[in-house]
Amino acid sequence: MFLYLILIAASLAHINLSIKEKKSFRLSSAEKISLSKKTKVNDYYALQYYADFKLGSPGQTISMILDTGSSYAWVPNINCSCHTTTHQFSASASSTYKNLSIEKDVEYGMGYIKGTLSTDVLSINGLKAEDMKFILVSQSSDLDGLAADGLVGLAFNSLSDGYPVFVEVLYEQNVIEKPVFSFYLGESSKKDSFITFGGLEDEYTKGKTKQIIDIYTDYGFWLSIIYSVSFDSNDISNSAAWVILDTGTSAIYGPSSDVQKILQMLKKKYTCYYSNLIICECSKSSCLKAGNLEFMIGNENIIITPENYLYCEDEYCWVLIGDSGDRYWLLGQPLFREYYTVHDMSIPQMELYRNKESEISYKVFWIILAIIILCGIGAFIVYYFLKNRNNENENENYMPLT
Ligand SMILES: *[C@@H]1O[C@H](CO)[C@@H](O)[C@H](O)[C@H]1NC(C)=O
Ligand SMILES: *[C@@H]1O[C@H](CO)[C@@H](O)[C@H](O)[C@H]1NC(C)=O
Repeated sequence: MFLYLILIAASLAHINLSIKEKKSFRLSSAEKISLSKKTKVNDYYALQYYADFKLGSPGQTISMILDTGSSYAWVPNINCSCHTTTHQFSASASSTYKNLSIEKDVEYGMGYIKGTLSTDVLSINGLKAEDMKFILVSQSSDLDGLAADGLVGLAFNSLSDGYPVFVEVLYEQNVIEKPVFSFYLGESSKKDSFITFGGLEDEYTKGKTKQIIDIYTDYGFWLSIIYSVSFDSNDISNSAAWVILDTGTSAIYGPSSDVQKILQMLKKKYTCYYSNLIICECSKSSCLKAGNLEFMIGNENIIITPENYLYCEDEYCWVLIGDSGDRYWLLGQPLFREYYTVHDMSIPQMELYRNKESEISYKVFWIILAIIILCGIGAFIVYYFLKNRNNENENENYMPLT
């Protein structure tokens, strides 16, 4: 129940993937200047990721979930008896606020908001989007577990009725050089998380294999195609399916029959059952041996290790895998903890760099170096020892002769 409450899913529960019309993302050709900026992201038990934004003039601090599964930005109005929040926005205290007097509501996989379409200056870490369209929320429901005040959508504008999304506004106003943003998701207890608008951070990509996934903007999501799925080296599925890549969702969701197969395989090793997600009775160290989840997305083999799809407490582990209720897959935060992702809205494509890869090769490098040094020292000692012994033997050999 706890986990259910704090999960926030993408705005897909009420979107039928087969009937939405096609809208493509348009970019202005104006010359782009300026820089990218790395900004710290906060996490809530590694189940929700959000950052502090400033809205209005003077800027009011508002924390917002970073959601690649939707496109509208919204903040709670000062007088809204919304979900639990730290900050609510006072429109009357902002000299740049404009009321567009259009009512909007958005239904998410979990939760619902309703409010007035408005514009104001929205900024993060000094990157300012002027006249950013957002929903000033007067009513929300089922969002009690939300760890942030509001949400900023990072998907394509066909999910926000064609109104430009935050990254698009930054790009069109020449604040960032490219319509690109990059995610590094860690766990606060181990590693900080970061988002970069306008580019990527070399420290997360250097020396790593780049994997590229083509994105289809047909439905407004960061959407691609999965060709096969395997779990713990066993085939789960070999039929093509859409996959939504969504930072706003805490888990992985797939077609019911595929999730059932994964559950059956887990049951061979552990006592497991299904309740919104798969739950297994096991300690974390034991469940970490559950096996990798692998997807062929486009031409790329994408791996998600147990470390990133498990959420453990005492003797239970939530396997963050659930039923999407349809034929598509949705890869949420477990994917983004496994890979550093670079989202390029103009091509559009996603670049993935596996976070663990270099750590392992780094370790292997030091181990090999240590072995080489030890062998060198060993060889020298043996050589020295043999040489001395030969000298002694030579002496001994001469002895009896004298
Ligand atoms: C909040 O204030 C706005 C005007 O700023 C008003 O339209 C709305 O009805 C108010 N909502 C509540 C719940 O008082
Ligand atoms: C925006 O304007 C509409 C009427 O055009 C009004 O009902 C609403 O309360 C206003 N909202 C705010 C936040 O001022």
